[in-house]
Amino acid sequence: MRCRRQFGKSVAVTCPARGGEGGCGCGSIVSGGAGSAPRRDVHDFQEGVEPMAITLPTFTPLEDSLWLTLCARALDNRRPHPMLGDATADQIVRTLDYDYRQFKITTNFILNVALRAKKLDEVAAGFLARHPDAVGLDLGAGLDTRFERLAPPPSVDWYDVDFPAVATARKGLVPEHPNTHVIGADVRDPDWLDTVPSDRPAIITADGLMGFLTKDELVSLLDRLIDHFPSGEMVFNSYTRFTIWVARHARGTKSVAELVKFPGVDDPHDLEGWNPKLKLVKEIALSREPEIAEFPPGQRLYYRLQARSTAWSRMGTIVLHYRF
Ligand SMILES: C[S@@+](CC[C@H](N)C(=O)[O-])C[C@H]1O[C@@H](n2cnc3c(N)ncnc32)[C@H](O)[C@@H]1O
Repeated sequence: MRCRRQFGKSVAVTCPARGGEGGCGCGSIVSGGAGSAPRRDVHDFQEGVEPMAITLPTFTPLEDSLWLTLCARALDNRRPHPMLGDATADQIVRTLDYDYRQFKITTNFILNVALRAKKLDEVAAGFLARHPDAVGLDLGAGLDTRFERLAPPPSVDWYDVDFPAVATARKGLVPEHPNTHVIGADVRDPDWLDTVPSDRPAIITADGLMGFLTKDELVSLLDRLIDHFPSGEMVFNSYTRFTIWVARHARGTKSVAELVKFPGVDDPHDLEGWNPKLKLVKEIALSREPEIAEFPPGQRLYYRLQARSTAWSRMGTIVLHYRF
């Protein structure tokens, strides 16, 4: 079988033949036109992955940031004991034969991305259990498969929001359901919410988005969301000024360093001052979560020490949960 590999400025591939050891040897989709040669390991092949012919739109560097988190969740799924166990993310990466090695993703990064997604999922699942008539929104959804992981009842309508090119890419890659909707929009635009029902409680998730918004953009987005729904909850990973500095300088996040605009918030209660309806439900410091017991010994020891101090815990990954 022969595959045709196309390197655009960002991503474009047509790969009609894949699957098993007999699949073709092409198919790396390379961000930013890097064009590095694909390398494989034993995890790169999986029986039963359907061959697909997909042409992805060209992504901007900002849109390209979705690969980092998607690949982290896929690699988590390949661990002997996955933290999140997102088989659909893994399948998407395998189907595209995405060259995740370009990111030099560390185990620590994989576990942090997987665990923070798990925490967002837990908050969303709890809300949906209490509000089966709810609307769910995933802002800056990328190719995340949160709906698949949550598997809410058909009474829930779920909206994945990201730039139009990403919305297009989701089609054919992320499973669609009667009650899932994809909105191709810039979340900073005021109009995209018009298509979302405004008479039902909402659970709003945002994984990896906030760092790319200025404080003013985030405040205005929160205001519009809070005004739109009668009530709801929001959960997203947040950044302190220190973690923003790290995101700009660490090797693992090098690919997005230039795109980070958020200044960081050191105290989660600060957001309550941004909108009077917003109330902090819980600050979830990953270092204090029980799943740290599943981290490798060195990281486990580090996070256990970190957990002793709130200030130090906030230097790690933080998930913030609010209601309005
Ligand atoms: C780090 S990725 C995370 C993607 C996904 N949430 C995940 O966990 O895999 C950030 C995502 O936010 C999207 N994004 C950034 N700024 C945005 C904006 N202003 N409007 C819509 N999407 C945005 C990017 O296109 C990208 O898909």
